[in-house]
Amino acid sequence: MSGLLITWEGLDRVGKTTQLRLVADWLRGEVREVVTVREPGGTPFGEKLREVLLREADAVSSLAEFLAFAAARAELMETVVLPALARHAVVLMDRFIDSSVAYQAFGRGVELDVVQTVNRAATRGRMPDLTIWLKGEPFGDSEGVDRVEGRTPAYFRRVEAGYRWLSEQEPERWVVLDARQDPAVIFEAERARIRQILIQKGGDPR
Ligand SMILES: Nc1ncnc2c1ncn2[C@@H]1O[C@H](COP(=O)(O)OP(=O)(O)O)[C@@H](O)[C@H]1O
Ligand SMILES: [Mg+2]
Repeated sequence: MSGLLITWEGLDRVGKTTQLRLVADWLRGEVREVVTVREPGGTPFGEKLREVLLREADAVSSLAEFLAFAAARAELMETVVLPALARHAVVLMDRFIDSSVAYQAFGRGVELDVVQTVNRAATRGRMPDLTIWLKGEPFGDSEGVDRVEGRTPAYFRRVEAGYRWLSEQEPERWVVLDARQDPAVIFEAERARIRQILIQKGGDPR
């Protein structure tokens, strides 16, 4: 398998972007090429969909929302992620396929089969080599998000149950970290695990 694909998952404002940046800064001194992307987005088409999806929040039906995320994902994979992996880059993603399972399937009730089948198509079957779940309550003021219709505490519990289910399905792919720790402590745990994978792959992620 070429390249290395690492993804961050978890609720909004648990520190995904913070950690991705720390890991990116470190890896830039270790490997030849590091590519960072966020979902939805990362392509001109995807960024337009991102604007709509984040503005409309849960106003669109759950299936329509999922398919829009999947469209952005297909474009991102085809034009950015798969070519980067083919160049043996390390690709760091702020959310990926597991967000759809947690939010759209577990959170909003889209059939799990549909989500998994479409995810497989959109990614051409390329799974992450490592997924980091920052598990815990969001940092800071949650009012803006919690007021969105449908985003009840029960909804967030379903999303969390989705992540738990996923991490139990593939324990070798997932690292579950307490998001409430110091950012430097979380980063050290991530670095140790990524080092291990790089060594397994022979120093350079080919
Ligand atoms: N481990 C941490 N402890 C305390 N605050 C944190 C931690 N990680 C991130 N933060 C802060 O929490 C907020 C959300 O972090 P961010 O990385 O943007 O989360 P996400 O990308 O998951 O939405 C930011 O203000 C960030 O500085
Ligand atoms: Mg973020």
